[in-house]
Amino acid sequence: MRALVAGKVGEPGDVLRLETRPVPTPEAGQALIRVKATPIHASDLHVLRGRYGFSPEFPAVGGQMECVGRIAALGPDTEGLTLGDRVVVAAVPAVPGPPMAGTWQEYLVADTRRLLPIPDRLSDSSACQLAVNPLTALLLVTRELDVQPGEWLLQTAAGSTVGRLVIQLSRHLGIRTINVVRRRAAVEEIRAIGGDEVICTEDEDLVQRVAEIAGPGGVRKAVDCVAGHVGAQVSQALAPGGEVVVYGALSTHRQTDPAALTIPLQARSVIYETKAVRGFWLNRWFGTASPEDALHALSQVRTLVADGVLSIPAGRPFPLERFTEAISLAETAAHGAKPLFVFEDDQNKDDR
Ligand SMILES: NC(=O)c1ccc[n+]([C@@H]2O[C@H](COP(=O)([O-])OP(=O)(O)OC[C@H]3O[C@@H](n4cnc5c(N)ncnc54)[C@H](OP(=O)(O)O)[C@@H]3O)[C@@H](O)[C@H]2O)c1
Repeated sequence: MRALVAGKVGEPGDVLRLETRPVPTPEAGQALIRVKATPIHASDLHVLRGRYGFSPEFPAVGGQMECVGRIAALGPDTEGLTLGDRVVVAAVPAVPGPPMAGTWQEYLVADTRRLLPIPDRLSDSSACQLAVNPLTALLLVTRELDVQPGEWLLQTAAGSTVGRLVIQLSRHLGIRTINVVRRRAAVEEIRAIGGDEVICTEDEDLVQRVAEIAGPGGVRKAVDCVAGHVGAQVSQALAPGGEVVVYGALSTHRQTDPAALTIPLQARSVIYETKAVRGFWLNRWFGTASPEDALHALSQVRTLVADGVLSIPAGRPFPLERFTEAISLAETAAHGAKPLFVFEDDQNKDDR
């Protein structure tokens, strides 16, 4: 089978190689999954660069976050599962270590506690992106900030997959969103998918615009995945007592200058207006939530997507051979659809 392997930590374009590897055999409590589709998240590339919150052992198959596939074989002690079941492989609690074996390969072995059955009506593109971004959007809005109907929620990188899902979920729950984008061309698109207000940092002042939009009551809740100067402005724009949850640091991507890796907060605003800035990381949430709660949240997301409340933007499919193009696209500005590696059903049947 084919696998995309990084021999060592480094720039993904330099360290990834397409290799042929034997198909692994599932042991007790494990299933062999024939991967159908798997996304290329920016975080997957950070893992390879050694700049993420965990590091696998190298050589490592790329893709640490999620995939969809079918059960191709079962080890002992795997009652309740059937060959051919369609499943998402996700990070779930009670399974120690990095989330899983790399997903950028045709077959992988996974602990069965990581498997979430998926109805056939969900496309491969949606299913393979189900466990990370939609769950993050749900947890940020409902659990981390408990945003109430009628309240404002301020968010950055509103055109990202998470940002779009936050908008959809907010509309569903009656929450009003103020959405920050960096390109004027993205503004209409954000309005079209239901963003109540849009601020474009290309030609608008974030702090001033938030004050104009929210008025004297201000905005008390925000989520930020840009960090740096934009994250600092979000904290400045908050009403006294407000809270911003930082869940990404897009402005730090590919930066090496230590100053570019910070969020330069205004101490006086943080102290005298008693504002809070705290982080959120899904992997840590999985590590602290009970297995029942995590599975409940994942099932909730599956229902929201299956019912059409959340629509995950369709990914752009790439065969594994075109990995150089696909990984470069993943971090290109205005890249649009998220690149996905897809594997045809009958491909390479004989090379197992
Ligand atoms: N903490 C967690 O557990 C967790 C979970 C899920 C996701 N995340 C994070 O959430 C973020 C979004 O992920 P995603 O998969 O939704 O992203 P995505 O679909 O790949 O979209 C990236 C978006 O970010 C915008 N962007 C990129 N660099 C930017 C910058 N320097 N300033 C402002 N905007 C910028 C892009 O705008 P253009 O269209 O203008 O290029 C694009 O809209 C990432 O940082 C990811 O790591 C964190």
